[in-house]
Formats: sequence, structure tokens, C-alpha cells
Amino acid sequence: MAKQTALRPFDEQIDRRGTDSTKWSSFDDDILPMWIADMDFLCPPAVVAALRDRVEHGVFGYTLEPKDLRDRLVEYLDRRYDWKVAPEALVFLPSVVVGFNLACQAVVRPGDGVLVQPPVYYPILAAPKNARAVAQHCPLSRSATGRYEIDFGRLEATVTNRTRLYLQCNPHNPVGREFSEQELRRVAEIALRRKLVVCSDEIHAGFVFDGRRHTPLASLSPEIEARSITLTAPSKTFNVAGLHFAAAIIPNKILRERYVQAKRGLVSSVNALGYAAALAAYREGDAWFEDLLAYVEANRDFVVDFVRSELPGIGIGPIEATYLAWLDCRDAGIPGDPYEFFLREAHVATVPGAIFGSQGNGFVRLNFACPRATLVEGLRRMRSALREWQERPASDLVDEATAVAWHASRVAG
Ligand SMILES: Cc1ncc(COP(=O)(O)O)c(C=O)c1O
Repeated sequence: MAKQTALRPFDEQIDRRGTDSTKWSSFDDDILPMWIADMDFLCPPAVVAALRDRVEHGVFGYTLEPKDLRDRLVEYLDRRYDWKVAPEALVFLPSVVVGFNLACQAVVRPGDGVLVQPPVYYPILAAPKNARAVAQHCPLSRSATGRYEIDFGRLEATVTNRTRLYLQCNPHNPVGREFSEQELRRVAEIALRRKLVVCSDEIHAGFVFDGRRHTPLASLSPEIEARSITLTAPSKTFNVAGLHFAAAIIPNKILRERYVQAKRGLVSSVNALGYAAALAAYREGDAWFEDLLAYVEANRDFVVDFVRSELPGIGIGPIEATYLAWLDCRDAGIPGDPYEFFLREAHVATVPGAIFGSQGNGFVRLNFACPRATLVEGLRRMRSALREWQERPASDLVDEATAVAWHASRVAG
């Protein structure tokens, strides 16, 4: 059952149109955007205040990192994940996508192998090729309940003598897993035995539900820490993705120097507003975030209940983490691509599952980090579109080709 929440501030529906928001300005106004991973909430008041102060100064020349930022992020990692890192282990970056691409550049030579676990955030799939390396796909396995797990047998079988890097996403986008400590220990054991470097994208680490606590892979032992590049950012947790601040945590000095070398000449410093927002978020954002997490977790419960009871034929597995729902539409009888179907028939923009790898064919990803009223509106639209299709007259029950044509004629109309 959905939990009750009385957290009114997050109920406010803020008009983001006209702000050049990627989420809201990429589709026509009649489309409800529930796709790209940012939230339709104000960011913490402390962040807004810090940005206001910085903007009111009025001069935006080249900038150093704020004096306190390293210490505040180090404290944050200790407080939230019980992980103690030295301030010098941090390398500040403009984005996590830049972060894992740099990891490939720093660790692999052309032709080397990089392990990835589809279905997974699509820039992760693309990163090995950007470094002229080979993406070694090691798909997650999916159980009948829709829960995904690391397929360790397959993982072991996929590693070759050319494999250098294990590029993981934890919490996992789009399947919503927070890998357990036991799973992470097995990953670490393989990485150590096969002498792999691990790059762990932990950008969604804030959104871990049901009282779980995120475990950074690198925090498991000094040995795995020495082979790890961990990527973190305030962008999901505090909704400041447009300000472009992220950090790579690389405790091993030699690995860090290779990383910094790869960055030279390509990636310059973070922008002044990104720094100001990060400092305020790590210093003062905890209480705001606890309230937000409760709200988003209640949205998670609502989505799971709604999909299971109101969207026949659509599967949804347990969502342990992230604010993304991974919807299996393969048994819903939808004609053609479910992304196209929900866009045209429900006027809801999701993310097509196929871009996360072929394992995502027939799936869509839905972002539920929005006010409850927006979420209800989107899910109701999807329910109506699905009902209309599923309850069409028996005389319309035809083969797939005719079904696709029916769909296409409505799109054209
Ligand atoms: C797993 C994952 N990594 C990275 C990013 C993007 O991070 P950034 O905007 O810092 O490049 C996203 C955004 O959705 C994501 O889901």
C-alpha cells in the first residue's frame, strides 16, 4: 500500500516550461514529460540562497574550488556511507558522464575490454567505444518477479586477458537495484583476482529505499579501494544537474595521476555556480533530503501499486533505488514500440527501453520524481491509452501488422 505523506512542499507543481528545461522543452506542450532523470522539485533552500549570494556578487571570472568543498564532501561520504576518504582523493569534474569516459581514457588502450551490464544507462554503453576499447556486455539476469541480478557465471566467462575495466552503475539505472554488500563483495573478488580497475557510477546513491543504506563498492576493503574510481555528484540527490558538478573519488595515487593526466587539456574546472551549489548541498542539504526521500519513496510505492493494479499486462519489478521505474510492456499487447505508443496515445514521454541495450526492447523507463498530482496524471493517461487499446472491439483483434497500421493511422490523425 502507498504510504501517506504530509510533505506538502513537494506537492507544489512548478511550471518549468519556458526555462529551456531539457525535460519540459523537448516535447510539445500537450506531452507530460516523465523521461530524463531530473526532478520537478525546487532544490534545497540552502542551495538557492548560496546561488543567490554568488549571483548577486555579479562578477563571474575564472574560479578556484571553494576552500571548504573537499572537507564537506569527505564528511558527507563518511556521514552517509560510512566511507572515509582523504580530501586529496577527490577530483572535481563537470559531470559524471565525463567522469566515466575519463576512466576509460585513463585505464584502457585501444582494443582493451570494458565490462558493462546492460540494460544500463546508455552513455555507459557508449563509453568504451569513445576510448576505442571494446564493450564486453555482461547482461544482468532478470527473474520472473522482474528483479535483476548480476550474472556472476556470465561475468566470469566474459572477462578476458584484455579486460581492464569494470564499469558498473550502482544504484542501477534503469533496473532500480542497489546491489547488496554480498554481491559487491563478489564483484570486488573478481576485480582483484582478474586485476581489473572498477569505475562505479554512484550518482543515484541518495535514492535508496526501505531503510537500506548505499554501500560504495570502494568502501569494502583497502584492496578494492586501491583499484576503484567512484563517481558521485549532488545532481540527482539535490536536483542541480544543470549546474554541472561531479567528483571522482580515486584514493590510489597512481591511478589518480593517470586520471588527472587523461583530463588534462580536455576538461577544465567546474563552473562557479556548480561549486557554490555543491558546497551548500553537502553542508546543509541533509534534512531537506530526508523529507524528499520520504516523498519519493511514497511515489515509488504508488507507482508500483498503480502499475500492478491498473495497467494490465505491464510488469514492474521491485524498485530498491533510483526514482526510475522500469516497465515491462511486452505482455500488454501494445502495437509496436511502447515508447511511441505512450507518447502518441497517452501523451506521456518516457524513455524507450531499447536505448539501454537490446535487453530493453519492449520496456520503457518512467521517472517518478515529481509531485504526486503530476504522477497521478501521467499514470492515468497511460491507463486510458492502454484501456482504449486493450478494449477495442473484437472485430479489431487482428494480426500485429494490422495493429501497427491502426496505431500509425491514429498517429497520423
Ligand atoms: C547512472 C547515471 N550516470 C550519470 C548520469 C548523468 O550525470 P551527469 O549529468 O553528471 O553527466 C545519469 C543521469 O541520468 C545517470 O542516470
